[in-house]
Amino acid sequence: MENTDIDNRLNFPATTRNRVHIASVLRDYISPGSLFLEIASGSGEHGVFFQKKFPSIIWQTSDPELIHRKSINSWIKHEGLSSKMPEPLDIDVVMHPWPINKQLTSLIKGIVCINMIHIAPWTCTKALFNESKSYLNQNNFLMLYGPFIRRKIQPSKSNMYFDKSLKLQNPLWGLRQLEEVNEIAVENGFKLDKVVEMPANNLSVIYRLN
Ligand SMILES: C[S@@+](CC[C@H](N)C(=O)[O-])C[C@H]1O[C@@H](n2cnc3c(N)ncnc32)[C@H](O)[C@@H]1O
Repeated sequence: MENTDIDNRLNFPATTRNRVHIASVLRDYISPGSLFLEIASGSGEHGVFFQKKFPSIIWQTSDPELIHRKSINSWIKHEGLSSKMPEPLDIDVVMHPWPINKQLTSLIKGIVCINMIHIAPWTCTKALFNESKSYLNQNNFLMLYGPFIRRKIQPSKSNMYFDKSLKLQNPLWGLRQLEEVNEIAVENGFKLDKVVEMPANNLSVIYRLN
């Protein structure tokens, strides 16, 4: 049990800017009684927002960083969602298998990963697809949200700058090319279902298993 009485809430400012827009994409996938597994939940602000927005589902958060899991627990408590939302799971996408039991797997409707693949090595994108397929079926989905580069589309200045600044922090980070992500998806039995243009040059990308 990682929860404590201390207020460990972190604030990730982007979450308040993008959460409404992401929720408008997720809305189409809500089916009562199902569970959405969020990979790389960060502060937990998205998790509690989506849980309140979609009370008929269970939002299962996760993050490999203890400080983030503590923040998620604090947000859950602060928002009065302790009886509804499970504690965050300690999932690093490169671990195999993810610590998800059969009961939880049977409830999963979708896996959602917001703003992670560009702030992690490429091996994490590969691992995300490789592992996700074990927990999904053809009726489920995997959704990525974030900034991408696209082969035939000039990137925005802000995304080019962001890409450079990420690579300076870590040469293994950087914006991913959507077409290359799609190739990894296909290698793992997924097909591209939908690409939704989002504010601030971001995309929501939805994949389904073939
Ligand atoms: C930029 S933050 C995004 C957090 C949150 N999704 C949001 O949009 O505010 C990136 C997150 O990815 C997580 N992360 C980094 N590497 C990871 C990995 N290998 N597996 C799972 N999560 C990872 C970090 O712990 C962090 O919470």
